[in-house]
Amino acid sequence: MTEPVPGKATILCVVGARPNFMKIAPIMRALGESATLDGFLVHTGQHYDEAMSDSFFADLGIARPDRNLTVGSGSHAVQTAEIMRRFEPVLDEAAPAAVLVVGDVNSTIAAALVAAKKQVPVVHVEAGLRSYDRAMPEEINRVLTDQLSDLLFTTERHALDNVAREGIDGGRVYFVGNTMIDTLLMNRERATPARQTLAGLQRTKALGLVDGGDYAALTLHRPSNVDNPEMLRRLITCLVGEAERLPIIFPAHPRTRGRIEAAGLLDVVAGSRLILTDPLPYLAMLGLMAEAKAVLTDSGGIQEETTALGVPCFTLRTSTERPITVDEGTNTMVGPDPDAIRAGLDDLFATGGKAGRVPDLWDGKAANRIVTVLERTFGT
Ligand code: UD1
Repeated sequence: MTEPVPGKATILCVVGARPNFMKIAPIMRALGESATLDGFLVHTGQHYDEAMSDSFFADLGIARPDRNLTVGSGSHAVQTAEIMRRFEPVLDEAAPAAVLVVGDVNSTIAAALVAAKKQVPVVHVEAGLRSYDRAMPEEINRVLTDQLSDLLFTTERHALDNVAREGIDGGRVYFVGNTMIDTLLMNRERATPARQTLAGLQRTKALGLVDGGDYAALTLHRPSNVDNPEMLRRLITCLVGEAERLPIIFPAHPRTRGRIEAAGLLDVVAGSRLILTDPLPYLAMLGLMAEAKAVLTDSGGIQEETTALGVPCFTLRTSTERPITVDEGTNTMVGPDPDAIRAGLDDLFATGGKAGRVPDLWDGKAANRIVTVLERTFGT
């Protein structure tokens, strides 16, 4: 393994799934510039397809992880347990001053739990978000990770109220902004132009999209939307219908594609103006979203990215852990409800869609603020 840098304290950073990579990239960069801290990166391997993992490391210039635990997929219990089992010896060897976890995926809670039991300080980036919906596995991960954390870095002011309600001392909470938006701002100019991505997709020529033109982008992967075949059928049928007035580009998560196939919905999509594609690399997705007339999604991160880009977003969920994107940003909650989706698009065509403003401290400097606090707390 990589030798610890003499005279510097190690911050062991953990990533596992696609939405973690854009959050860690600016933190690893800031740690690389620190005089007193050194970053050590562990990838759990929760996501492992090239399109779900390696392409993000390449696009974002993240160095190869120091360790990959290659856990792969499994039930929540199996995946979480396997990460814990494989993470423990790595933690012992690296002997870091702290373990830093990001977001709310199974890798986040698994690593935090191992570290806390070994009395290694836990740092949570993107703390304090709450959907108040315990049917979401991520909500359980959020609540428990925050309980285990010694330092909590938040992306918006309301997060402090959420953790205070759960008995967490506000003295450990730092409002620093959003590291995913650091990455967005750093890469905005490098984003792949949408026409280049569209030119590579089947059928976009026939839809007249290759040289520009209006389109929407769609992502869908929440278990509540894709795991129930009836719900998925209702959503896909609705979106195929809406695509008649606005073509929809749909880079599908592997689990979503699998569910579409299993539910016999490929026929419904075939020949329609809902264009199903493989997951896109970061820079291509950024360009596609930035130039879209609107984005439809059930992702957490995309609600924030569209707010930062000023692009109208329709969220196909009944709750959000990111209410600031609704209060201040461009996000509208439409649920998995065909009537509300239709009404949202009616409004988009009538008014151009919801305008918003960029929330406080989403200014590209969140990672630097985090590392400043870490240097003060753990620096040698
Ligand atoms: C995970 C996160 C979710 C996040 C999402 C982003 C949890 C609880 N969920 O959900 O919060 O929004 O990542 O993508 O941690 N698969 C592949 N290739 C891969 C990875 C997954 O084919 O590289 C397929 C497998 O069939 C796998 C399924 O996707 O079983 C689910 O993967 P998993 O990591 O368990 O959860 P996600 O749905 O990706």
